[in-house]
Amino acid sequence: MTKKKESREIPGLDWTSYSPSGADFTSAMAARKRGASKQPPESHSKSPEPVATSTDPHITSSKPSKILLFSLIFFLPYLYLIFYHYTIEAELKKSILINASLSFAGFFLTLIMIPVASRYVLRRNLFGYDINKRGTPQGLIKVPESLGIVVGIVFLVVAILFQYFNFTSDSNWLVEYNAALASVCFMILLGFVDDVLDIPWRVKLVLPTIAALPLLMAYAGHTTIMIPKPLVEYVGAEILDLGWIYKLYMGLLTVFCTNSINIHAGINGLEVGQTVVIAFAILIHNIMQIGVSSNHETKQAHAFSIYLVQPLLATSLALLSYNWYPSSVFVGDTYTYFSGMTMAVVGILGHYSETLLIFFFPQVINFLLSLPQLAGIIPCPRHRLPRFDPQTGLLTGTNDGTLVNVSLRLFGRRSEKSLCILLLVLQALGCCFCFFLRWILTGWYK
Ligand code: UD1
Ligand code: MG
Repeated sequence: MTKKKESREIPGLDWTSYSPSGADFTSAMAARKRGASKQPPESHSKSPEPVATSTDPHITSSKPSKILLFSLIFFLPYLYLIFYHYTIEAELKKSILINASLSFAGFFLTLIMIPVASRYVLRRNLFGYDINKRGTPQGLIKVPESLGIVVGIVFLVVAILFQYFNFTSDSNWLVEYNAALASVCFMILLGFVDDVLDIPWRVKLVLPTIAALPLLMAYAGHTTIMIPKPLVEYVGAEILDLGWIYKLYMGLLTVFCTNSINIHAGINGLEVGQTVVIAFAILIHNIMQIGVSSNHETKQAHAFSIYLVQPLLATSLALLSYNWYPSSVFVGDTYTYFSGMTMAVVGILGHYSETLLIFFFPQVINFLLSLPQLAGIIPCPRHRLPRFDPQTGLLTGTNDGTLVNVSLRLFGRRSEKSLCILLLVLQALGCCFCFFLRWILTGWYK
């Protein structure tokens, strides 16, 4: 690996105040067991110069301007659709813009709060080692873990404040909106508990079922599905009421979305990057549906989705600026669970879960590839990550069943950053394919 020294400073973080002794470090390691990621990785560096020790302060940098500039590529078509392409009611447009402004403020708040929170999590020894930098000085740096907690809290603040501007006390949406927030909040709590206690993954699998309860209980929407036109003659009805099966489906969807984001991970920027790509696709889908639909209910359902996805996207972009390669912070299961749950909730309440599942195509593939290891048929190590070669800085795919490893085997060895870009491009192509599919099938399928 080309040992490119990058500035790794967290603004506002006074490292002089953090100087754990060797004894503190040992007791912290004993006190909190977090699998392989908590073990200081062995250094294979042949360099005669002394390398950083695991207790050295680390310096990190953020790239918010680059992230903002890059996201303009996506925001411009979104704004074009809202202001020019579709005629959207002034009242709805106003609500979307109020939400966008609050989300923008949430972006800056997250940007400011992440370095502050990093100091606190490090003080409580909540950190991880970057496994894909093992054998280099960067692999010895303590990277603050669970910074998803900042994103989750700012998201909740924005979403709660937004109610003041948008809903009246007799609003029908208020109950479901708050139930959705309760589910997301519950998931953030469970994710943070997982980060601190390192829960076995079999238990992790069921956590979202508990967190989905507020949503399932408050759900007052219909439990019917429209039968695809080609299947109507076989089913004998155009609309089918699934009753409790629909609620079971909603529960399973939340379990899938949360866990599928969490297991498509381990590469700098991937956890947040996939969320950002899917969230962009959801927003475009929502605005297109609002634009073309004449049904008030449908418009409201998609507007509801926008009100939660805009803050998710804004806060995630701020986190991405710290989590992009080389990561200054890790997002933790707090973030992966939170983002998965938020997207599941909007898919359910916006009534577009089929489309959501197509946006999740790479996650579905990763899940299917993971099944033998998740089911215990093949041994499942604590981390199913590629093999890193400190000499070349390249990753090689292992036999573990993940999309990360399969991509490396298919497209060849590559650096962590280029692998992350490749996976995000695949994710974006999947979303484009979904829009194409919807366009092709309109009128024929439903
Ligand atoms: C899931 C995956 C595991 C993967 C891990 C990476 C399954 C069943 N589990 O476990 O295979 O290794 O996510 O997040 O598929 N880390 C990095 N670089 C990163 C992000 C994380 O090295 O860019 C490491 C750090 O040591 C960090 C740790 O992963 O501390 C976090 O792992 P955690 O989220 O606790 O793993 P799981 O979600 O249990
Ligand atoms: Mg995780």
